Amino acid sequence: MKRTEIVVLADAAALAAEGARRVAELLREGVAARGSAAVALAGGSTPRDLYRVLAAAERVPWERTEVFWGDERCVPPEFPASNYRMAHETLLREVPIPPAQVHRIRVEEGAEAAADAYDALLRGRLGDPPRLDVALLGVGTDGHVASLFPGHPGLQDASRLAVAVPGTHHEPARVTLTLRALNAARVAIMVVSGTAKAPTLRQVIARAGSPLPAARVAPRELLVWLLDVDAARGPHVGR
Ligand code: 6PG
Repeated sequence: MKRTEIVVLADAAALAAEGARRVAELLREGVAARGSAAVALAGGSTPRDLYRVLAAAERVPWERTEVFWGDERCVPPEFPASNYRMAHETLLREVPIPPAQVHRIRVEEGAEAAADAYDALLRGRLGDPPRLDVALLGVGTDGHVASLFPGHPGLQDASRLAVAVPGTHHEPARVTLTLRALNAARVAIMVVSGTAKAPTLRQVIARAGSPLPAARVAPRELLVWLLDVDAARGPHVGR
């Protein structure tokens, strides 16, 4: 990784606008360089507004963009907890992207089979390491990123691009990209909002060598932290 940028925005609207602007620019740059671009989308609630802004943005090369996901829950794609559904409703159904370029994680056959299939799909579409132009990511209060939770064995997996994450009594199983896949992206944008995330950021950003998954995101060129003032409050992550 060559550079890290920390950008603190005034509020959620400014965070969404800046995130959308950067994603659009990276997709344009990907198309200019190679004729096509690829993005991995995040789930969670923080990127919703960003997707809505991106849906309305001009000059986004949707016809030449391939869309992937950083992670997915093993629920049907029409369920509220589906990351595919969230991105479809806020963004993808609003833009002229050919359906064949939308690569959701097909979790219907279970996490293991879906992880194997997505691993193969990524290799087939983007190579290995997969050349994503941008990976958009959120961070959990426990320091997880995509569905790489602290202690997950997938964190050590240096060969796979996607792995299964077992479910719990309260949570469905998931499929997640690995650090190998995420860190092959040209740029990763971490979108973080709200005071609940401030202590986590203090560990992830300000403390060198943190073992938390979010601290191990290191894309090829640039890691961008987009924070609203609430998330940035407290930790010494100022500009
Ligand atoms: C998901 C993602 C997860 C998410 C973070 C932050 O929930 O689908 O796997 O990594 O990005 O948990 O979520 P919020 O944006 O809702 O805080």
